[in-house]
Amino acid sequence: MKVLVATEKPFAKAAVEGIRDIVENAGHKLALLEKYSDKQELLDAVADSDALIVRSDKVTAEVVEAAKNLKIVVRAGAGYDNLDLVACSSKGIVAMNTPGQNSNAVAELAIGMMIYISRNSFTPGTGGELKGKTIGIHAYGNVGRIVAELAKGFGMNVIAFDPFVDPEKIKADGVKPVKTLEELYENSNFLSLHIPATAETKKSVGTLLMSKMPKGACLVNTARKEVINEEELVTVLEQRPDLKYVTDIAADNQTLLNEKFAGRVFATAKKMGAETAEANINAGLAAANQIIKFLATGDRTFQVNK
Ligand code: 3PG
Repeated sequence: MKVLVATEKPFAKAAVEGIRDIVENAGHKLALLEKYSDKQELLDAVADSDALIVRSDKVTAEVVEAAKNLKIVVRAGAGYDNLDLVACSSKGIVAMNTPGQNSNAVAELAIGMMIYISRNSFTPGTGGELKGKTIGIHAYGNVGRIVAELAKGFGMNVIAFDPFVDPEKIKADGVKPVKTLEELYENSNFLSLHIPATAETKKSVGTLLMSKMPKGACLVNTARKEVINEEELVTVLEQRPDLKYVTDIAADNQTLLNEKFAGRVFATAKKMGAETAEANINAGLAAANQIIKFLATGDRTFQVNK
C-alpha cells in the first residue's frame, strides 16, 4: 500500500525518518510531498495513495475525489477542521487525528507569547511578570490542561471554562472552574484560547467577551484564527487601548492590526505552535502507527468521522 505524507509545512527530518521506518517495516511504501505550493501537486500525489498523513493541509472534497484508492487520512495533530469529513465519509474514507501528541509544544508557545507581550516585546524598562496574574483557560482539553500546569509553575492563578469537562476534574488540578464565559473573560489578565474551529465557535470571540477583560489584559490565541471575529477585534482594540492580542495564527487582517495597534498585537510569521522536533515526532509517528494498525486490523481508534 502507498502511504503519502503531504505536508506543506514539513515535519522535522527525524519525524520523517521515523514515519518511514514504521511504514516500510510494515511492508508499505512511503511517498513524500513536502513544501508544495500548488494544489495540483497534492491532487497528483494523492491519486494512487491508499493512506494519507497531513498537518494543516486542506483535504477538500476535490482532494478526496482525486484520491481514488484512499482508505484513511490522518491529521497529525489535534484540530481537524482542515479535513472535509463529509467528503471523506461519502467515500468511506476513515479520518483520524492524533490528539494530545503536539499539545506540549503548543502550550509552551502560549506561555512564551505571554512572556513576550508582558515584557513589552522585550523593550527595556517596561516589562511586567506573569506571577500573581490570573490566566483564564478557554477550553480545558489537552493543550489547556498543560497551559494551566505551566502557568501554576509561574505562580499564576488559573481559572478555566469548559462545559464539556467535569468541574471536579478541573478542581482536582488546582484550577478554579468558572460557570460562564463572561466570568472567565471578566477575571483573566491573560486569556488562553483552546477551542476548536467549529460551526458553533467560529467568530465567537469578539467585542462582547473581550470588552469584559480587565485593564491591560491580553488575549492569547494558539487555537484557530477562525474563532475570532476579526472586525470586532479591531473595534475592541480601538475602544480599549489597554488590551492586547497575541496569536500563533495571523488574522486575515493582521497587516491592519499590526499597523493600527503596534506594540499591542503580535502574530508569528507562520503557525509555530507545533513546530518542534518533539511535536513532529510524537504526532507524525502516532499518525503512521494509526495507519499501519488500521490497514492491518481495521482499528478505528481516533476516528473523527464516525
Ligand atoms: C493542531 O491542530 O494540531 C495544531 O494547530 C498544529 O497544526 P500544524 O500541524 O499545522 O502545525
